[in-house]
Amino acid sequence: MDIAPIDEFSSAQISLRVFGKINLFLQVDGVESNGYHKLLTVFQPVDLYDDVHLSLRSSGDCHLVRYAGRVCGTNIFGDKDLCIRALNIFLDKYRAEVDSNCSDYFDIFVNKMIPVQGGMAGGSVDAAGVLRLLNEYYGFPFNTVTLEELAARLGADVPFGVRNVLSVGNRYGDVIEPLELPSCSDSNGIFPVEEYCWLLILNKVGLSTPDVFAELDRLYALNDGVEKGVSGGDCASFCADGLGGVSDKKKDIVCLKQDIVFAYRDSYSLAKEIRNDLEIAALSLYPKLSHILVEGIRGGALRGFISGSGPTCVLLCESESKAEQIRQYLANIDYLSDVIDEMLVVSNVSL
Ligand code: C5P
Repeated sequence: MDIAPIDEFSSAQISLRVFGKINLFLQVDGVESNGYHKLLTVFQPVDLYDDVHLSLRSSGDCHLVRYAGRVCGTNIFGDKDLCIRALNIFLDKYRAEVDSNCSDYFDIFVNKMIPVQGGMAGGSVDAAGVLRLLNEYYGFPFNTVTLEELAARLGADVPFGVRNVLSVGNRYGDVIEPLELPSCSDSNGIFPVEEYCWLLILNKVGLSTPDVFAELDRLYALNDGVEKGVSGGDCASFCADGLGGVSDKKKDIVCLKQDIVFAYRDSYSLAKEIRNDLEIAALSLYPKLSHILVEGIRGGALRGFISGSGPTCVLLCESESKAEQIRQYLANIDYLSDVIDEMLVVSNVSL
């Protein structure tokens, strides 16, 4: 994948690197009357990132958003572009509360490496990045909580992008609580985490988040509204031998936080904690993904799962060399070549 040279955009006044996420845990707790699903989720940022650059436009009467990397072009997503919406939502608040005369227009450039419609919150973290850059440009008129409130109006995953750190997401995934892990020197001695990493498998098609949620509703309805049986229980098949089944018992936020912190002590515990209730819906819409997960386990991964609404597949690997081995193994499987676009070995980002 070619990355546009950074000096092409040296006119940018301020820049920010934003990281994509994988969901280590995603529990769906029913659907609300507004169509949104109640979630309890864990966002783990990984080192697959977009660079967002912002500069003031000296002339013109509209914002411009240019992309390079995985997508190329200017204003390609039209008014639906989350970066444009972030600009408008921020500037409306800025005019209402700080400077009613502000008539600035901006040039945004996004060098995009996070897949589009990949379940890694790429568009969401770009939009959150725009909010942070504007806040910086205007001398920090708003605090983090206010930025998160603005972000929540843009989409359920956008608030995660404001801090862009390991977090629990509650309500629709938009109420964010950063999760701190004990440091290596913690007296419990349960850290450091070993050198595990993730093999990300990016796919040739994207999945639309609303479609995946709608498919989950359809599957739950087929099951007479009983969620159990089409959710977490099925994920157990994407676990390495000896790890046992993955629980599909509902968790509350207190229990989840404890379990996740505990699970981070080693990759085997982490493998058991991973769960995604949306997985079955993503697999139902795109069954070939299950072949990737199964082959990933055959190739030596500890755990295979779908990130968020997919279709990005994630394999938990005990080391970087193991991940490289599994990457080679998957690359040699002919029948996966029409599905897999790219494979990347990444690690967690802790900012
Ligand atoms: O919030 P966002 O615009 O990213 O959500 C896209 C769509 O995903 C929503 O319109 C909704 O269909 C679905 N969604 C949901 N429950 C959530 C988050 C998203 O049903 N918690």
